[in-house]
Amino acid sequence: MTPILDRLNRPLHDVRISVTDRCNLRCGYCMPRSVFGEGFQFLPHSELLSFEEITRVCQALLACGMRRVRLTGGEPLLRRDLHRLVAMLAALEGIEEISMTTNGTLLRSKAAILKEAGLSRVTVSLDAIDEKVFQSMSDSRMPIAKVLAGIEEATAAGLAPVKVNVVVRRGVNDHCVLDLAERFRGRPETVRFIEYMDVGETNDWRADEVVPASELIAAINARWPLTQVSRARPGEVASRYRYLDGAGEVGFIHSISQPFCGSCDRIRLSSDGKLYTCLFARSGHDLRAAVRSGASDAQLVREIESIWRGRVDRYSELRSERAGGDEVGRRLEMSYIGG
Ligand code: GTP
Ligand code: 5AD
Ligand code: SF4
Ligand code: SF4
Repeated sequence: MTPILDRLNRPLHDVRISVTDRCNLRCGYCMPRSVFGEGFQFLPHSELLSFEEITRVCQALLACGMRRVRLTGGEPLLRRDLHRLVAMLAALEGIEEISMTTNGTLLRSKAAILKEAGLSRVTVSLDAIDEKVFQSMSDSRMPIAKVLAGIEEATAAGLAPVKVNVVVRRGVNDHCVLDLAERFRGRPETVRFIEYMDVGETNDWRADEVVPASELIAAINARWPLTQVSRARPGEVASRYRYLDGAGEVGFIHSISQPFCGSCDRIRLSSDGKLYTCLFARSGHDLRAAVRSGASDAQLVREIESIWRGRVDRYSELRSERAGGDEVGRRLEMSYIGG
């Protein structure tokens, strides 16, 4: 099959599916309680794509070249019986990998059943190893032990290699970086430090809170010397480094200081069935309407093809040029469009 290319010659390879816009944590950079508080209206269940509908969209995406699915949210494990969706997706022909990004708090009891259903691996978000910093960043009383137990169980169940994602904010958790690196050195999990991004409209993002990956690489390298390793595949977002003493790897996602739009092969499906061609998109394409009004498989494939062929997104590369802000419409929240 000849791959379908967008206007910047990028193939469609991955889909990131947000299965719910809800979460049991309230990280300030993602779902600040001031906005996502008691009165916040999350999507009603009837507006969410059902597992059958998600599977149908994935089938159409597969016909357009998609090969890998990542389940995200919100917190994907808040969606009841998620393993059923995993099993339905795993049965589709052509799927090479199903993975999930989770906050890990509900993972311990579900890791084995997810693995059995066909999940390949998980990425767990964990911004600090210090309980106080973790609870303050996640604006919750969640014991960090739950997340650590989730990570351990995922590794034990074979959802491996588990990646641990850390969003670094200057003055908030940048002092925890070496501790986090140390905690996972010599273990099967790989920690990845993420530059804090200007996603959405609610987190009051400020450029001076971004810690450039180069600074973190220098700090870690000074303590435990590193050597760079090449990316596992062209569209991979993290740059990878290996500890010279053999204690494993550490990664960095520098979406602000070194954007990776040039190789971006990701499409996103929101929990209410809109397809977005960029994390920073302001509008999407309503596939739920097509699915619920009886569109045929061929029609769905044609619609997705035409969306991908028209794609020109490279927001992170343009970010600096547009500092004045000339865009129309609201930016979408990461919990809605998928992390
Ligand atoms: P693998 O490399 O396959 O393990 O997955 P991944 O790194 O693509 O997935 P993960 O959910 O761990 O993504 C890590 C983080 O990278 C996300 O939480 C985002 O902060 C960032 N990220 C992922 N995809 C994009 C993207 O398309 N654009 C931008 N700007 N950031 C992204
Ligand atoms: N900047 C960078 N990464 C973010 N995430 C959420 N919000 C942001 C942001 N503003 C990432 C975190 C989280 C995943 C769901 O999305 O890594 O683990
Ligand atoms: Fe929830 Fe993850 Fe957002 Fe934190 S970053 S509020 S854990 S979805
Ligand atoms: Fe892809 Fe948009 Fe992220 Fe660039 S900003 S890497 S185009 S999702």
